[in-house]
Amino acid sequence: MKKTVAVLPGDGIGTEVMEGTIKVLNAVADRFGHTFEFQKGVIGGAAIDETGEPLPKETLDVCKESDAVLLGAVGGPKWDDLPRNLRPEKGLLKIRKELELFANLRPVKAYDSLLDASPLKEERIKGVDMLIVRELTGGLYFGTPSERREDGDRVVDTLSYTREEIERIVDQGFQAARKRNRKLTSVDKANVLESSRMWREIVNEKAANYPDVDVEHMLVDAAAMKIVQNPANFDVIVTENLFGDILSDEASMITGSLGMLPSASLRKDGFGMYEPVHGSAPDIAGKNLANPLAMILSSSMMLNHSFNMKEESEAIDKAVKEVLEAGYFTSDLVKKGKRGLSTDKMINQVILQLAEDNATAGIMEAYA
Ligand code: IPM
Ligand code: MN
Repeated sequence: MKKTVAVLPGDGIGTEVMEGTIKVLNAVADRFGHTFEFQKGVIGGAAIDETGEPLPKETLDVCKESDAVLLGAVGGPKWDDLPRNLRPEKGLLKIRKELELFANLRPVKAYDSLLDASPLKEERIKGVDMLIVRELTGGLYFGTPSERREDGDRVVDTLSYTREEIERIVDQGFQAARKRNRKLTSVDKANVLESSRMWREIVNEKAANYPDVDVEHMLVDAAAMKIVQNPANFDVIVTENLFGDILSDEASMITGSLGMLPSASLRKDGFGMYEPVHGSAPDIAGKNLANPLAMILSSSMMLNHSFNMKEESEAIDKAVKEVLEAGYFTSDLVKKGKRGLSTDKMINQVILQLAEDNATAGIMEAYA
């Protein structure tokens, strides 16, 4: 199969982890006989430096003409003092909005081989496998700009949702639960926010269409507590934009590091952009220290969701799991007294593992 992928490395460690991910995808293409054509675009701080704006039209066009988008990370101290609308993050919010990527899927899995890298107790996190479905194009992130500042001493951020915006993300939550363990936790703040009250109403209405899914409502503060107290209790969490942003960083500690979390941001028709949950990590950028696994796992989500390449996606997930099981890790995954691999070396391990799995599969086929 031939597929065109828009590649937007962005800033900081985004460029480092993207480079390695393309190597991994090329290895997969060789093994399975596909062709991936990569079209580069600038976004974030890199785009500001080059074109004066965080999301130039050319980049958006490249994305629209591609079969899927891979994004690294945006932001960094260099651009911190720019006005809100010109910051690197604006590029990310704009691309999400322009491409209508309203459904952000953030899987959180505890790898057995990384249980000791988590600050949480092993017995609580073992076997945890949850999915956070975060609304991505509404809420506080997209408040009306004119309402942001009325005079010098007053700021206003608006949290607005339409019924349709809530309905479509809630449907995504139910559908994801249906494919998994049929449990949906809808997270809101219905004891305070009107938007949450409408959210809860809609979840209750929709529940009638999914009688096979168990639904519970949870206030966001309680959810933050329970993710640490009993993470195994969760299957699918569906929630609005800002709550999902906060809870996914919190939940990443189950895997041991934010550097392990991939994500998919999907449009109604299935078109998707794939990015790690971590940011540009300016403190370690350019040092060959970043964990590339979140980006690599995001590319696996791309193969699965956008290209329907299930076997190829599983091959990447398997290789990552095996590399971790063999004891390799990067320095974000704190293991007492040991030094982690560099970004490059971790990428090479994943590629070697893919090759080895390929050889094993070949031998098994020969003997079948
Ligand atoms: C994320 C990031 C972004 C967000 C930032 C960089 C704007 O934290 O993808 O979680 O808040 O959505
Ligand atoms: Mn975030």
